[in-house]
Amino acid sequence: MEGKLSLEQAPMIAYAGAGCPHYNHAEKLIGRRNIPSVCAAFEGGLQFRYHPHGEPIMSMIQLIYVSTANHLLSELEIRQILDSSIRHNTPQEVTGLLLYSDGSFMQVLEGDEAAVNETMSRIERDPLHHGIIVLERTTVTSREFGTWAMGFHGVTTADATKWPAYAPFFESGFDAKAIDAKSGVALDILHHFAQAD
Ligand SMILES: Cc1cc2nc3c(=O)[nH]c(=O)nc-3n(C[C@H](O)[C@H](O)[C@H](O)COP(=O)(O)O)c2cc1C
Repeated sequence: MEGKLSLEQAPMIAYAGAGCPHYNHAEKLIGRRNIPSVCAAFEGGLQFRYHPHGEPIMSMIQLIYVSTANHLLSELEIRQILDSSIRHNTPQEVTGLLLYSDGSFMQVLEGDEAAVNETMSRIERDPLHHGIIVLERTTVTSREFGTWAMGFHGVTTADATKWPAYAPFFESGFDAKAIDAKSGVALDILHHFAQAD
């Protein structure tokens, strides 16, 4: 296998070199002498997703929930949520998208399971909202909303006109019951809004 290191594998080797239990596999795969140079080449800001057998090193999850705001939020309050999301999510490598419609939220969070769980416990304690319903909690191998530490879209009536098929699920706030009853629709809606911005 020596010499067959691909770019996809390289970050994982760097992780392995940083003292993870998969170091021995990495050593077998590319040889010990190659590990330090790979580590050096890939130092800083890397995502480590796969170990040498192609299995995830970290367990990455995608979590989608809806919740109800305790009052109609001002732009400033939304800005504060986003500021603190970016401040916390960036170092934890949590990414996602937050939608706000008529006093309700739908959010997708992605990242290492422990990081997403920690983020979610903070969010659950937030007095700005209540009635959190987790719609999806799925193991994923790659991010679908990796562009933002936390993206945001405030839903408008124009969105309902643009996507009439999805409008009933979000136009008067997110309808958790209807969304939950239709498999895959939460993710579809999030993807549509992700592309809209
Ligand atoms: C709907 C909603 C979504 C939020 N999303 C995030 C998030 O993705 N990451 C995060 O760290 N905080 C998020 N927050 C804010 C947290 O609930 C919490 O207020 C914040 O992390 C506290 O940290 P701070 O005191 O350092 O600002 C969210 C809050 C609400 C109401």
